[in-house]
Amino acid sequence: MTPLRALERIARNPDSVEKEDLVLILRENSKEFNEKLFKTADEIRERYVGNEVHVRALIEFSNYCRKNCLYCGLRRSNRELKRYRMTPQEIIRRAEISAKMGARTIVLQSGEDLYYTKEILSDIIRKIKKFDVAVTLSVGERTYEEYEAWKMAGADRFLMRHETANKELYRKLHPDTPFEERVKCLHWLKKLGYEVGAGNIVGLPGQTVEDLADDLLFVKELDADMVGIGPFIPHPQTPLRNEKGGDFLTSLKMIALARILIPDTNIPATTAMGTIHPNGRQIALKCGANVIMPVMTPSPYRPLYQLYPGKICVSESDTKCIPCVFHMIRALGREVGKSYGSRKKVTISSSTSCS
Ligand code: 5AD
Ligand code: SF4
Ligand code: FES
Repeated sequence: MTPLRALERIARNPDSVEKEDLVLILRENSKEFNEKLFKTADEIRERYVGNEVHVRALIEFSNYCRKNCLYCGLRRSNRELKRYRMTPQEIIRRAEISAKMGARTIVLQSGEDLYYTKEILSDIIRKIKKFDVAVTLSVGERTYEEYEAWKMAGADRFLMRHETANKELYRKLHPDTPFEERVKCLHWLKKLGYEVGAGNIVGLPGQTVEDLADDLLFVKELDADMVGIGPFIPHPQTPLRNEKGGDFLTSLKMIALARILIPDTNIPATTAMGTIHPNGRQIALKCGANVIMPVMTPSPYRPLYQLYPGKICVSESDTKCIPCVFHMIRALGREVGKSYGSRKKVTISSSTSCS
């Protein structure tokens, strides 16, 4: 099997994918081959999810976190970070502004902060749903009852990356809870009818190409409705401060492969891609991605949601990012999504018999 043969086969029939195909493709790094990979992903993106780029306004409403993930600047042991919580009223107001500016999805993201109880968050969701938007939650691991209440309140989607599918590496990086707990939550969310997003970090210390192949098989097996992938960026206030960061090209290949394996899924051009490369998000949008998440966190909180250093947009005016991404989308010859941009499942008919 050559990398090219593997690529051609999985593009025709993603269900035929095997770990070995992905390892071969990730290892082959000739310019010619990578260009073929990116072109294939871009064509599949166009065929299955079209020309539109969906804009999801991101409100990072609290940077308190009960967890201690080794890579993350919000980890509870980071005493140097000034912590903040937005009030429900501030969150709702920000969602309203985002909707008025043209965003059709509001993403509510925070560290794992139990201050926002089942009731408080339900109330926020109900009020935001009045603005005719989809609501995506990204608040980490909680109880089944909480997820259920938020779904009843109107939440549509939930983002929770699996981070790495290597259980041993997961354990080293996440001292609080095991991988199995994460997976359990993802399955609960699916069962409750959320559109579910998973995804991994690329270039974690000790991560191998085989691990990255497993990450892709994991999201494929989960049939993730959204797949968020971005490079590891070492944070100076974490134990991983001296480790090497993830590389742009590998992250881009992972995005392209996610598109090929789950053709109708929604894939963001992540902020981390834009942070390690000046045109990282634009490039990702040309290699399989079809979603962008402008930051709508208000001042003065914006610079405090510091998952990793150098994060783009933190010092921009706090309403700049939505018009900025609209412009970016149009400059790429794409259209701004007009609908909620929910996943529309497409049955894949593999064309194995004819060439
Ligand atoms: N580098 C890259 N991504 C990170 N995240 C957290 N810390 C880092 C880092 N140092 C990602 C995690 C998390 C998402 C919100 O941000 O994947 O799920
Ligand atoms: Fe908390 Fe999420 Fe950061 Fe882990 S990755 S420390 S759960 S904010
Ligand atoms: Fe934030 Fe462009 S998206 S300034």
